[in-house]
Amino acid sequence: MIRFLLNDQPHAIDNCDPNMTVLEYLRNELKENSSKEGCASGDCGACTVVLAELVDDELNYRTANSCITFVGNLHGKQLITAAHLKEQDKLHPVQQAMVDKHGSQCGFCTPGIVMSLFALQKRSDHYERGETLEALSGNLCRCTGYRPIMDAAVQMYEPAEDDQFTRNAEHTKKSLNKINGDADEVVTLSNGEHHYYAPATLQQAVELIASHPKARLVRGGTDLALEVTQHLRTIPEMIDLSRVKELNKLTVTDTEIVIGGARSLDSSVETLKNYYPEFADMLARFAAKQVRQQGSFGGNIGNASPIGDTPPVLLALNANLTLKSASHCRDVALEDFFTDYRQTLLKSDELIGDILIPLPEENAHLKVYKISKRQDDDISAVLAAFNLSVVDGVISKASLGFGGMAATPKRAKATEAALIGQPFNQATIDNAKQQLAVDFQPLSDMRASSEYRLEVSRNLLQKAFIEIGLELQQENDSPLFVDATQTRICSHA
Ligand SMILES: Cc1cc2nc3c(=O)[nH]c(=O)nc-3n(C[C@H](O)[C@H](O)[C@H](O)COP(=O)(O)OP(=O)(O)OC[C@H]3O[C@@H](n4cnc5c(N)ncnc54)[C@H](O)[C@@H]3O)c2cc1C
Ligand code: FES
Ligand code: FES
Repeated sequence: MIRFLLNDQPHAIDNCDPNMTVLEYLRNELKENSSKEGCASGDCGACTVVLAELVDDELNYRTANSCITFVGNLHGKQLITAAHLKEQDKLHPVQQAMVDKHGSQCGFCTPGIVMSLFALQKRSDHYERGETLEALSGNLCRCTGYRPIMDAAVQMYEPAEDDQFTRNAEHTKKSLNKINGDADEVVTLSNGEHHYYAPATLQQAVELIASHPKARLVRGGTDLALEVTQHLRTIPEMIDLSRVKELNKLTVTDTEIVIGGARSLDSSVETLKNYYPEFADMLARFAAKQVRQQGSFGGNIGNASPIGDTPPVLLALNANLTLKSASHCRDVALEDFFTDYRQTLLKSDELIGDILIPLPEENAHLKVYKISKRQDDDISAVLAAFNLSVVDGVISKASLGFGGMAATPKRAKATEAALIGQPFNQATIDNAKQQLAVDFQPLSDMRASSEYRLEVSRNLLQKAFIEIGLELQQENDSPLFVDATQTRICSHA
């Protein structure tokens, strides 16, 4: 049985097909129609709801695309929709701001936009433009434009008094604590035909996998749910890893960053910023806030898509994976993990436990570039990650990871060989660029042609060379730009 708070009321779901999404449950079962269906694929944001969870005994508000969130994922959380914001006849400050600033025209996308702004208002106490753009990056509005919506975001921080959610926070925490009382139980949901299990511990998870070898693993569902909503398949058995404590941790040791396979992408960004800011910057362009808060590293790797964004970066960083089953635990290099198109080394009784990322080496420079048609919320045509070490003007190490260039995320071994041991100069880069055609014969598809992919990869290597060159200049304390007057024979200054 799934138990959660529907706004402020305890709610339970039993005897239900676990393939049902939260949006379907709201609209078809509860007849609560404030959340809209635009795309049913996580792209438009019209179905955005807010999920509040207890994190260190505080309420953490985040958004989710209800169209691709399985109903089982609600367990232990508070579900808030646009219909819950109003108090008697009084609109919530976020709704009032949207009215005052004319942020709503069609009304179809508006509930999702309101929920993204509401979650933002709960997370921060003042307007910040970058943060607001990020919060709205998964909400498409095609008629008003975003200007009045941004104006509403400025106004929404000016309520005269606390809203009902702040006033009721202690009560909400108590109710959530009660629901989550037996933290170690395996939560289940079934309609007799299709079954869902949400273990709380790693041991429970691997035992469930052993006893249900055909079950599909799910964490955020931001890939898996599309099999149901877009390809109209039914998943007979699911094991949800999102509650497994051991898989949600993030630790930094003296040699590596260890990210649990079920940890959300969004909650790892702050730590990654300290070690690999380029990686963290790329994650800001991975899907949109809703998807990053729900989706995981384990899901991105386990999905084994050739256009997944984290694998190329992790390949360039020489990351390893810990694969765990009920009977064993083994470490594999990510480089060996992808064996063919959507094929991996993962055995049917295993899950991706930890992602192990070595800490930055001295003299190493990481550059990550995501090429897509849109800045936000778009799948990459090419993702290139360059990790080069330069010592005394010579490239001592090079690991290059690419996505969108082959049937799997892949290292560029021939290009690496052309770089290692060579002077860090244009001639070396020109030679290495030719080797990219040895490493890759990319496909043409709707995102880019084969020729474009190869050309853009060469250009990105050039870009990395220029940017790393500038960093080396700064490290060696040489001025980047010489005062123009000093370079002239005759100064008119
Ligand atoms: C609108 C939208 C935009 C997107 N944009 C991007 C993007 O820009 N870049 C990008 O790379 N991806 C993107 N994605 C894809 C998706 O969000 C990511 O791949 C995400 O990381 C998947 O994580 P998840 O937890 O939701 O995976 P799930 O959907 O839960 O699972 C995905 C697959 O991995 C398996 N799996 C999950 N966890 C584990 C585990 N611990 N061990 C073994 N197998 C596991 C599942 O069985 C399933 O086959 C986008 C998706 C949507 C809907
Ligand atoms: S309906 Fe478009 S994101 Fe859910
Ligand atoms: S207000 Fe709905 S598309 Fe812009």
